[in-house]
Amino acid sequence: MTDQSPQTQLEIINQAFDHEFERFLPLIDNRTLDLEQALGEQRAVAELRTRHLGKKSALAAAKKLIGRVAPEERASFGQQVQSTEQRLDRLLGEVERSLTEIIHDQRTARESIDITLPGRRPRTGHRHPITLLRERLEDVFVSLGYAIEDGREIETDFYNFTALNIPENHPACGKADTFYTTDGFALRSQTSTVQIHAMQRRGVPVRMIAPGRVFRRDTPDPTHNPMFFQVEGLCVDRGITMAHLKGTVGELLRRMFGADTVTRFRPSYFPFTEPSAEFDFSCFKCKGSGCRICKNSGWIELGGSGMVHPNVLRVVGVDPQEYSGFAFGFGIDRMCGLMYELDDIRLLFENDVRFLEKFE
Ligand code: DAH
Repeated sequence: MTDQSPQTQLEIINQAFDHEFERFLPLIDNRTLDLEQALGEQRAVAELRTRHLGKKSALAAAKKLIGRVAPEERASFGQQVQSTEQRLDRLLGEVERSLTEIIHDQRTARESIDITLPGRRPRTGHRHPITLLRERLEDVFVSLGYAIEDGREIETDFYNFTALNIPENHPACGKADTFYTTDGFALRSQTSTVQIHAMQRRGVPVRMIAPGRVFRRDTPDPTHNPMFFQVEGLCVDRGITMAHLKGTVGELLRRMFGADTVTRFRPSYFPFTEPSAEFDFSCFKCKGSGCRICKNSGWIELGGSGMVHPNVLRVVGVDPQEYSGFAFGFGIDRMCGLMYELDDIRLLFENDVRFLEKFE
């Protein structure tokens, strides 16, 4: 290059630039470019600028020549270099500005939203069938003047067994059926534990129900789950008799299964009640004539009940001579399975959305 005259060098610089720049001219104000194309061209123009105006460009080399040309030519050569630089910068600038504008517009277009489109409605969840039933049961008892007690799921043997008049090593103790934590706490196997907590905390008279989760070492099958839900009921006051128990359970079952529902009590045994009874109700489906749900008996077994054992009252410092009470307990899952005619109550805990959606 150095053997060419400075002017020739400038001409070559201009020509080389024009040759490469030619293809960028149509980009000015070109609205057919999409965003990706425009971004690609922006990079290409930046490279072109570095190549022709950067530190290693031929123009930069020509600038260094200014001091070395003959003094009488120096001013005019200097001007030529400067005007070349200005020309390249102006041309590149035009393409750059145009591309920047196109990119901006394309981005804006891409990000714009059509506010007239209908919104996407979030899918609302709904309560689990067990929860729905628990709430219905709570409503019935609240209307009868009962408080709702929230118990604990991990208990000492005292609350799970001893205080409920279940002697150690007694088969009814059900220790073999109870889950234990490594430090010796029981996962409660029945909500009856809450009777003790409630009387200790509230004293008597007391009327409360305690819905909640219980745990037993059962192998899951269509009617058993190692975790299930119960509702416990307790009513202690002066002069409470079995008639109150029968009236209360009967009222509950009429509200849940229809006004013509009949309740039946059968003598039974529970350590924490004396006397004890299991209760059945007339089949809501066949009205007693016999069907699949009641296994052709006309009756459906639901829970246990009885008059609170004097030992249970004594444990919490209540005088059985002055106070008496009734208690009952039954499974929410079982009631849920009956109401919705589920063949397998394990469905309730499989979290299959197709099943759970039916209860909205
Ligand atoms: N706790 C008993 C069970 O899990 C149910 C029960 C029976 C509760 C009699 C009671 C009752 O309060 O009096 O099978």
